[in-house]
Amino acid sequence: MSISIEISFSKTAKVSGGLVVAMGSVSEPVSQAVKAADPAGQLEKAVKVSEFTGKSFSTIDVIAPVDAPADRIALVGTGEPDKLSAYEWMRIGGKIFTLIGKARKVTVLLGDGGAPSAEAAADMALGLLMRSYAFDTYKTKKPEDEERDSRKVSVVFQHGDAADCKKAFASRQVVAEGVALARTLVNEPANVLGPVEFAARAKDLEALGVTVEILTEKEMKKLKMEALLGVSLGSARPPRLAVMRWQGGKPKDKPVAFVGKGVVFDTGGISIKPAAGMEDMKGDMGGAAAVTGLMHVLAGRKAKVNAIGIIGLVENMPDGAAQRPGDIVRSMSGQTIEIINTDAEGRLVLCDALTYCQERFKPAVMINLATLTGAVMVALGQHHAGLFSNDDALSQALTKAGEVTEERVWRLPLSADYDKMIDSKFADMKNTGGRYAGSITAAQFLKRFVKDTPWAHLDIAGTAMGSPSTDVNQSWASGFGVRLLDELVRANYES
Ligand code: BES
Ligand code: MN
Ligand code: ZN
Repeated sequence: MSISIEISFSKTAKVSGGLVVAMGSVSEPVSQAVKAADPAGQLEKAVKVSEFTGKSFSTIDVIAPVDAPADRIALVGTGEPDKLSAYEWMRIGGKIFTLIGKARKVTVLLGDGGAPSAEAAADMALGLLMRSYAFDTYKTKKPEDEERDSRKVSVVFQHGDAADCKKAFASRQVVAEGVALARTLVNEPANVLGPVEFAARAKDLEALGVTVEILTEKEMKKLKMEALLGVSLGSARPPRLAVMRWQGGKPKDKPVAFVGKGVVFDTGGISIKPAAGMEDMKGDMGGAAAVTGLMHVLAGRKAKVNAIGIIGLVENMPDGAAQRPGDIVRSMSGQTIEIINTDAEGRLVLCDALTYCQERFKPAVMINLATLTGAVMVALGQHHAGLFSNDDALSQALTKAGEVTEERVWRLPLSADYDKMIDSKFADMKNTGGRYAGSITAAQFLKRFVKDTPWAHLDIAGTAMGSPSTDVNQSWASGFGVRLLDELVRANYES
């Protein structure tokens, strides 16, 4: 991250230099709090001239008069602050980040003018941190001056209940870290982040108290994960399966399990993809990234839950040793699969990871995430992930968590008629179901590996990468799923 942000909360922030940011609502565009920092009335004049009305997410930014305690004064519109959702407060935090400019010290005055709750103040800080994320590891020529790039900025939120703010912020800071971790894993190029390197990053979670096991090719062979291993045959880099365990609940509580597709690069294999846009397939481990980011959050905030994260890490390459269309593999479950298209590889990785998860951990609920199909983008675009589930209550809980976090999901159907589309002439099933309903037949395939466990599959091909810019993210990778599932756990599974 080019700019490192240090957040604090204070009851009485004394302004000296830097940027002062205040909230302006529709009913009070220039708050009492900021008037003290604007003795010459400069801001009030600017507000008039620019017709700033306090409309939500609007901003105005002025140079403070020479004798003012700050260098610059800015206002961020909160509209009708009582009506703002948690996510909208995060967006306002993101707006504040954009105002920082060259300042090293930012004082955010929340005293009045629609004083947000402590929770809302913490949400602003979360949004600000999320917006500050930038993936510039490989830029040797920084766009702006060096000084700016290695800069530390301290942001002080002045709030009457600073202690409550601080408490509310503690878990959100961890969320910001988890989202950043997921984004970075997706943004990293595949030459840097192969299966072994990804597994090492999962292993880093041990520092937070997560138990992490890394299964090698040899161990997966023993477990008969032929479907997962088949995808990896064309790659010079060996596969890995990472198993992360967080025990924050009662020892006997059944765990909540998360399973992620971690194809570090998807060429399509022998059914090779067209060249245009293939570079995006470095992000085909978005499911695994979300699971890893989520485990970071759950452990970091010491969530009172037992959680399992399992990620299947492989690279899908064409090669003399690669698997072919027409090949038949035997999955860990014993079911056989005819490979019709080697580019439908995500489901082959997931089916063995799902079987392993159920056999070993007998989870109370199992949720998998995968950048599984291009078809889900045709159906839902980039603003909802596809949700498939065998359980209405779980679907509703996920939908609710999606609304709260604005990481939205939309349920699509499963049924026997779609299931028939993947019957095979030669094996128990084939790995593609033809042109129609591509996301649904992919989900039907996964469902064949789920026993009685309440299960949901999230197809995040449209939401994890190539993400539209928002007030809380400008990066190619969104980190989609981390906040969604953290909220799901918080609202439903913590004791
Ligand atoms: N990783 C892709 C899906 C994908 C496409 C993710 C675009 C993100 C952006 C997946 O492995 C894939 O290739 N799916 C095929 C399935 C088809 C061969 C049945 C697809 O969607 O075309
Ligand atoms: Mn593919
Ligand atoms: Zn893929």
